[in-house]
Amino acid sequence: MFASPVAQSTKTRRRRLILLLAVCSLGPTLPAQPAPPEDRVHALLSRMTLEEKIGQLVQYSSRSDMTGPASSAALAPLIRAGGVGSLLNIIGAAETRKWQRLAVESSRFHLPLLFGLDVVHGYRTIFPIPLATAASWDLARIEAAERIAAAEAAAAGINWTFAPMVDIARDPRWGRISEGAGEDPFLGSAVARARVIGFQGDGRFATPESILACAKHFAAYGAVQAGRDYFTTDVTERTLREVYLPPFRAAVEAGVGTIMAAFNDLDGTPCTANAFLLDRVLRREWGFRGFVVSDWAAIEELRAHGTAADLRDAARQAVVAGLDMDMESEAYGPHLAELVRSGAVPEARIEAAAGAILVAKFRLGLVDDPYRYCDEAREKTAWLRPESLAAARDLARRSCVLLKNNGALPMKRDGITVALVGPLADSPQQQLGAWSGQSHREDTVTIRSALAEFFPGTRLRYAPGCTVRGSDTSGFKAARDAAAGADVIVAALGEEADQSGEATSRTSLDLSGPQLALLRELRATGKPVILLLLTGRPLTIEPAEPLADAILLAWHPGTMGGPAIADVLTGAYNPSGHLPVTWPRNVGQIPIFYAHKNSGRPAPHVGEPEDRYYSHYIDAPNTPLYSFGFGLSYTTFAFEGVRLNSPVLRADGAPLVVTVRVSNTGSRSGETVVQLYVRDRVGSVTRPVRELKGFAKIALNVGESREIEFKLTPNDLAFWRADMTFGPEPGQFDLFIGGDSTATLSTSFTFETTPRN
Ligand code: BGC
Repeated sequence: MFASPVAQSTKTRRRRLILLLAVCSLGPTLPAQPAPPEDRVHALLSRMTLEEKIGQLVQYSSRSDMTGPASSAALAPLIRAGGVGSLLNIIGAAETRKWQRLAVESSRFHLPLLFGLDVVHGYRTIFPIPLATAASWDLARIEAAERIAAAEAAAAGINWTFAPMVDIARDPRWGRISEGAGEDPFLGSAVARARVIGFQGDGRFATPESILACAKHFAAYGAVQAGRDYFTTDVTERTLREVYLPPFRAAVEAGVGTIMAAFNDLDGTPCTANAFLLDRVLRREWGFRGFVVSDWAAIEELRAHGTAADLRDAARQAVVAGLDMDMESEAYGPHLAELVRSGAVPEARIEAAAGAILVAKFRLGLVDDPYRYCDEAREKTAWLRPESLAAARDLARRSCVLLKNNGALPMKRDGITVALVGPLADSPQQQLGAWSGQSHREDTVTIRSALAEFFPGTRLRYAPGCTVRGSDTSGFKAARDAAAGADVIVAALGEEADQSGEATSRTSLDLSGPQLALLRELRATGKPVILLLLTGRPLTIEPAEPLADAILLAWHPGTMGGPAIADVLTGAYNPSGHLPVTWPRNVGQIPIFYAHKNSGRPAPHVGEPEDRYYSHYIDAPNTPLYSFGFGLSYTTFAFEGVRLNSPVLRADGAPLVVTVRVSNTGSRSGETVVQLYVRDRVGSVTRPVRELKGFAKIALNVGESREIEFKLTPNDLAFWRADMTFGPEPGQFDLFIGGDSTATLSTSFTFETTPRN
């Protein structure tokens, strides 16, 4: 939290004064250093009225599509009076400049606005959806993608993105699983870090190409019951801290400037007004000093949650709990001043919130140069640069996961005719996925147009076959005809863009509409069938699996999805993606994730064959269709010779060094993700059967073999123990290394808390 002037220690001020005197005594040649933002904000706050401070806490959305009292005409007087701190969904250098001018030229302190937008996977150059890029396990490229997204958005006047979404999601019925990095807190934390750094750079915002990031939705939004969006969440504090909070903590440690509170309630308290989350955990335990914004109209929604009787009380609860900015509830503006004057809200709390928001504006350089993000000349050249498109293509192919291959892939490039079938094969809008509002369809290269480069003229036969939804099968005949004259069939099936993302929960994850029936028709032709899956979430494709000779998961791959997919299908790129989420066989298995507990009666069962009293289903296996971490390649990899530098890791000793030999045993160069999992055999509370504790994405040439090293420290073994303290417990640990979460290569070690004499 921004330290309020009251809380700022005189010691710190004295130290600054000494520093200032020391600097001055060096002589007049040194350029004058601007005072630190905190000091400038302190000075500013002391001159602002209560209403002006509250104004900083208010955020409105673009009103261009509205008429009446909330229209853009009504916003202007509010801005002039200093009653607005931020706008969202206003884009474009000219448009943002217009609003910025209004704020800067007419408000008493000339304070600039923050312009926020959901830049979730790119601005004009759309990258694959975040779940897809997590499948690349390629942190450097994920970071680079966000750097491009930030630069493109920044050129359009945006200085704040509502991203990254770092919610752990273990339920693919929840459509927002597409916006995050999947089910695992270790991978999720690594991706959160990379994305924050990508957006914010080094956090100094020296050039207007980095923007403020926002880790959302705090917290446990991914755990909504039954996968229904906006619904109730009820997780234990242990699960909250071990599973859902780590990526947020990683984002805070990476310097994320803002946090968005989640819509859901948590153990009975909506996150919007949750002092445990916003004050105790975020500020006091983690030392977060940025500001917290509500989700859309979430303060107002406290009434529907049933914890506030009216908007005034909702505003009071939220601000007291630690929520700084009101997105679109119109709760803070009308009510906070009276709440402060009546003594229901301490003014110091308003100062702290306004202070944190103003510090962000100083850090972004907006107070000194309000128009630095509104540059029309830069805007024209910043979008869709060739290097950005190349990066989007590269990340899209690295995000593809090869789920099955009986040899149908890679396709031969010469002498064959390809039937490209399916409603997603030539559909620019759908391949972009959710949250791609700033893209233009003509920028998008579809699978059809990309494959036409490899298979010109009549060598590519295209038929959509059906639509993604509905029941019309009249296109089947044309699809069969296209297939009849071809050597191989590529069927592009899955989800449309608006079937995943916000408010898209599903109770069935089957291929929708007539898509499965179309696949059956194609199989009946006897030609090899490659199923190309475009989706925002895992789909229950168990019935489709035997109908395909190969399955390539391409997710929603973005602007350059077509060329990326063509690269993978033709072998120009050897697939290297691995699943960041467990892939269920059917909806009944959900939630299904690899880091589950063992139970007292685990499967596989070891007793009498007729004994059924163990943890299982009588109509389906416990195992998923594809495991977390799984992904095939056109080559093969061997993992062998795992060894430790010591059988014992000591609490006060050096890290344990784990070494494994990885070899490319196939006939193509390729990349794989070496994954290290740990199991704590006995704990004071039940522990997961295994947990990811390290990974490395490596490239190996044909026949190449390399030793890969991981280091384990006591912190890697730490968890929330029975007494709710955090730390490791002594005992035996198993370690597994391989290419997915079912890896069998293993060894074990002991963790000791006291050194041996
Ligand atoms: C979503 C947020 C988003 C916000 C602003 C909400 O409906 O839950 O993720 O940032 O809208 O667009």
